[in-house]
Amino acid sequence: MKLVIAATGASGTIYLQRLLAQIDCAANEVHLVMSGHAKQVAAQEVDALIVPAGVREHAENDLNVPFVSGSARFDAMVIVPCSMATLGRIASGCSDTALLRAADVFLKERRKLILVPRETPWSLIHARNVVSLLEAGAILLPAIPSFYSRPGSVAAVADTVVWRILDQLGLSNPAAYRWRDGRAKTEPK
Ligand SMILES: Cc1cc2nc3c(=O)[nH]c(=O)nc-3n(C[C@H](O)[C@H](O)[C@H](O)COP(=O)(O)O)c2cc1C
Repeated sequence: MKLVIAATGASGTIYLQRLLAQIDCAANEVHLVMSGHAKQVAAQEVDALIVPAGVREHAENDLNVPFVSGSARFDAMVIVPCSMATLGRIASGCSDTALLRAADVFLKERRKLILVPRETPWSLIHARNVVSLLEAGAILLPAIPSFYSRPGSVAAVADTVVWRILDQLGLSNPAAYRWRDGRAKTEPK
């Protein structure tokens, strides 16, 4: 697959880190774009973001990248984490960075655009922007972890979201915990 993975300045660099770690970057063409704020938040939240070998990293403002044109064939774009600022910009059609233009292109070309917002609580403006994006065909996959797998670490909590992203990409992790798949650690009392 040809993928664009973008990160913006919401909390949750660990979701980006865990996603990159679980995609086979040799078998898939992976392009990475981080906003300036994403880099700031990453510096706050992880010691060092590990970008796997083979991932092609691009500057947020570099429009000389293939995925800002509808003529370049890509399969999916994920923005993880997605700030409400970026979500609002995409909803309003603002496309003045490579990251925003790519999202704009994926929507207009009816390609898979997966947004992973992390914000709480929401304002009505946030909710309206989300509705606009759903109407335009985006997949809204909020960074809301689940706990029925009894995750034992922060990474394991993050993986409950990352596995859902991978499912949407068609790159499911065989190790992903699935409800009632016979591997439940404990039965509910
Ligand atoms: C430490 C830190 C954490 C933040 N967390 C969030 C967040 O969880 N969600 C959000 O929507 N914005 C969050 N923000 C605010 C965004 O970074 C800010 O709106 C920024 O303009 C987003 O820019 P970008 O979308 O271009 O990356 C955070 C900012 C900082 C400094």
